[in-house]
Amino acid sequence: MTAPILRKLSDLRALTAAWHRDNKTIGVVPTMGALHQGHQSLVEAAKAGADRVIVTIFVNPKQFNNPEDLANYPRTEFEDAEKLDPFQVDAIYVPDPAEIYPQGFATTVSVAGLTDVMEGEFRPGHFDGVATVVAKLFLQTQADRAYFGEKDYQQLMVVRRMARDLDIPIEVVGCPTVREASGLAMSSRNQRLSADGLRVAAEKHHIMRALVQAVQSGAAFDTLAAQADTDLRSAGFTEVEYIQLRCAETLEPLTHADRPARLFVATWVDGVRLIDNLPVSRA
Ligand code: PAF
Repeated sequence: MTAPILRKLSDLRALTAAWHRDNKTIGVVPTMGALHQGHQSLVEAAKAGADRVIVTIFVNPKQFNNPEDLANYPRTEFEDAEKLDPFQVDAIYVPDPAEIYPQGFATTVSVAGLTDVMEGEFRPGHFDGVATVVAKLFLQTQADRAYFGEKDYQQLMVVRRMARDLDIPIEVVGCPTVREASGLAMSSRNQRLSADGLRVAAEKHHIMRALVQAVQSGAAFDTLAAQADTDLRSAGFTEVEYIQLRCAETLEPLTHADRPARLFVATWVDGVRLIDNLPVSRA
């Protein structure tokens, strides 16, 4: 069964109102399209966790701080709908832009603190765009649960905080990163990598895993991070924006893994920015 593609909020509201009348729980998987197995794993989690599943597809201009990045972002609605077929989702919401940002739209949702670092530092305005669109998608879909990948771990934390602070009655569920056999984290941006870029990108996972192991055995992070920076550049990355160890709960920076932590890395290859992160157990 092919899921209906809805472009109007009024059509979405009619559907979700009927589901709520029937006491059905709703799961939402917010995406910007260019779906891959990472998204499909979120859809599977949503199918297991809710009675009705909506996938949203909206390339959100407000979260791109770089116009070239927005222009190059893959738009593959037809293929995306086909990829969702086997999962039998209940609706695909591809809102007309005016349903998200109507004429005169003047509100920004901004989460302080968590957004000052990493992606927030290197992509100014990015998280305001994310928090604003996700708040709208939560309110428009009236979902009970929302599914996000840990690949964008900082985004997951920001969205969770936003929903909690605004009393939006939704459970934000984090799902593990899905990786290629090479270890490369799946991302819509991988489509823009050359064969050589893909080979370089895959090296990052190995360098990150070695770093995680060393930190878990008690070594100080700073020296290890400097070595990992050198290793990433030697592997072929043209830029290493950050390599950071942070508390998994609060995202505060750590020098040792003295509590459950996360290693975060942002790099460039082939003109494509790639982020990844790994869990780090207490040393
Ligand atoms: O992770 C993404 O694809 C986007 O940031 C999201 C959550 C769909 C908001 O536009």
